[in-house]
Amino acid sequence: MRRKLVVGNWKMNGSIAKNKALINQLLARLQNFDAADFALCLPYTYLFQAQQLLTGTNIAWGSQNISQFESGAYTSSISAEMLKDFNCKYAIIGHSERRTISHESNEKAAVRVTRAVNAGITPIYCVGETKLERESGIAKKIVEAQVLAICNLDHTTFERAKNVNMVIAYEPVWAIGTGRAATPDEAQEMHHFIRVLIALRDEEFANRIRIIYGGSLTPNNVCNLLTMPDIDGGLIGRSALTADDFSKICEIACDTTQCLI
Ligand code: PGA
Repeated sequence: MRRKLVVGNWKMNGSIAKNKALINQLLARLQNFDAADFALCLPYTYLFQAQQLLTGTNIAWGSQNISQFESGAYTSSISAEMLKDFNCKYAIIGHSERRTISHESNEKAAVRVTRAVNAGITPIYCVGETKLERESGIAKKIVEAQVLAICNLDHTTFERAKNVNMVIAYEPVWAIGTGRAATPDEAQEMHHFIRVLIALRDEEFANRIRIIYGGSLTPNNVCNLLTMPDIDGGLIGRSALTADDFSKICEIACDTTQCLI
């Protein structure tokens, strides 16, 4: 049984005052939830605050990207080692909003994954097809290329990725922020496909890697999605911005048997 992981992707939201209120509400609600893992990925500017408020709690924190470079003259970039200074456990890599806005390729995303695992940070590597790609019948081809960028990492890097329990997030682009999540069957099919691809490289890791779903995940659809055999949690945007919604999703991740009632 893989332990479920629920990650809030705050995107470009928050303020020092709002974060404090939301984090304190979450800490109160999640304090007895011990059957799943939780994390918040905040804007870089709030990582120090996250570290202050979350150290020693059951909520981990992380960033929403990572530089492909180690250090040097790269204005505005944030390196893996810098994230380590704030004790980030996770870094989202290859989110579709990054792939679209900054034209991030699979190759660059793979370099970022390498930087993360070298620093001991767990990458949450995002994959997913656009609406047009799905409608054209090439969704699996697109996702395959994205996953292979990871499967083709050199031996040392792949072993490091295994050691930090790399996570993959399947986020169909057409489902992100649209209110129209993938159906449980659509998501399960792709999650299983991703696991099979990982198994071609490493069967043992394929069985234990957490493949989480993202894209309009809410308290209303979480039961249907998180009870599918290959869906190991969620990457959550909008529903991570309210304590009610996020904590409800976390509660269900801890005990999906309540979905059967
Ligand atoms: P959403 O975002 O939950 O608002 O669809 C998910 C994501 O982009 O990670």
